[in-house]
Amino acid sequence: VPEQDMAGLEVLVTAGPTVEPIDAVRFISNYSSGKMGYALAADAAARGAAVTLVSGPVALEPPARVRVVPVKTAREMLAAAEEAAPRAAIAVFSAAVADYRPARPADRKLKKGVDDAALAAVELTPNPDILATVGAAKRPGQVVVGFAAETDDVAANARAKLASKHADMIVANQVGEGRAFGTDDDQVVLVTAAGDEELPLMPKRELAHAIWTRALEMR
Ligand code: PMT
Repeated sequence: VPEQDMAGLEVLVTAGPTVEPIDAVRFISNYSSGKMGYALAADAAARGAAVTLVSGPVALEPPARVRVVPVKTAREMLAAAEEAAPRAAIAVFSAAVADYRPARPADRKLKKGVDDAALAAVELTPNPDILATVGAAKRPGQVVVGFAAETDDVAANARAKLASKHADMIVANQVGEGRAFGTDDDQVVLVTAAGDEELPLMPKRELAHAIWTRALEMR
């Protein structure tokens, strides 16, 4: 049995992609598998925390002793995160949220030959930023952790997100071909006001453990 160093703590984790409908059969999404977020939820639960895992659609088994709130869209993820956030001592936002969604999703299948203009140019509208919304409402003592998925200038972009999203820590990972999205391992930099801590490549479950340990130190 691992050390119960999170016993009595409520935590919130967002995981997976969001799915934003274009019509009854098509959607906009991304390659997040949920592995990072599920590893975070599993590690916190094993350490005794009461975990709420707000998850986009993924093909993973729910971790033991975790309350899973399944959602599809960014707006559903925001509502579920805002419901759980006030009780959370630590909130970690590992979901890959679609920044934009189709402005007017059709409730039927758009048809080639009939709806060509609508299919060729799907108009998009911005989604709410879940981390920034919860970060702005943060109460004293609450620790908010975001991720940054970057292809370039990883640490610098992560440091900008630390401020703009009111986060206490940003887990910065380089993404791209064969990196971070869908993989079992990840290599990250933990960016905080105190500085950057570069971690070696490791399994996501070990990384999850390191993220919680660092977040616990910040309380
Ligand atoms: O799920 P896996 O296959 O295991 O992959 C893990 C991962 C690559 C998805 C994960 O490690 C990761 O980097 N997650 C964040 C991906 C992302 O969308 O990063 P971003 O730089 O676009 O967003 C920055 C932060 O704001 C993130 O904490 C994100 O959850 C949050 N955000 C972004 C947009 C938005 N509308 N709402 C948000 O809450």
